[in-house]
Amino acid sequence: MSEILAIYPGSFDPITNGHFDLIQRSSRIFDHLIVALLTNAEKQPLFNVEERFTMLQEVTRDMENVSVDTFSGLLVDYAVRKNARAIVRGIRAFSDYEYEIQMALMNRKLQPKLETIFLMPAESYAYISSRLVKEISKRGGSVKGLVPPLVEERLSKKIVPIIDEV
Ligand code: PNS
Repeated sequence: MSEILAIYPGSFDPITNGHFDLIQRSSRIFDHLIVALLTNAEKQPLFNVEERFTMLQEVTRDMENVSVDTFSGLLVDYAVRKNARAIVRGIRAFSDYEYEIQMALMNRKLQPKLETIFLMPAESYAYISSRLVKEISKRGGSVKGLVPPLVEERLSKKIVPIIDEV
């Protein structure tokens, strides 16, 4: 039987422990997982593509069946080029569901042979998002336990906290 390759796409600005948890879960299900970083997102990222790519690579270094790549354009076109069978996306709460189901169904319309698989992170990571991590960091809060240690370190170097004066 042929090997099953899945793609875990995202902006990863930066990778959180929730993302990492999903990467671990996916790597146990699929023969190979590509963590695919979107390079031409419209939103202005905190970390540039190279920085995000490096963090992803460092965090997944010891995972034998996981690789990191970048893509631009349509996700389904990239997935077809890679011969992938599935796209992995995380669902943390009901609030994620609407956007995710819309994207999954649109991707299925564009490429019917490709399946989107939704995975839930551990409950302890269900409230983590890159957006909140950046906000906490900017306001001088600790992100320990929310992101891998190396990301915590890069965040502290990148962000000069905005401390409101009272
Ligand atoms: O981490 P994010 O920002 O939630 O990831 C969103 C991502 C990268 C998966 C999504 O924006 C995407 O697939 N972009 C590529 C362009 C594309 O295929 N758009 C059509 C989606 S139906």
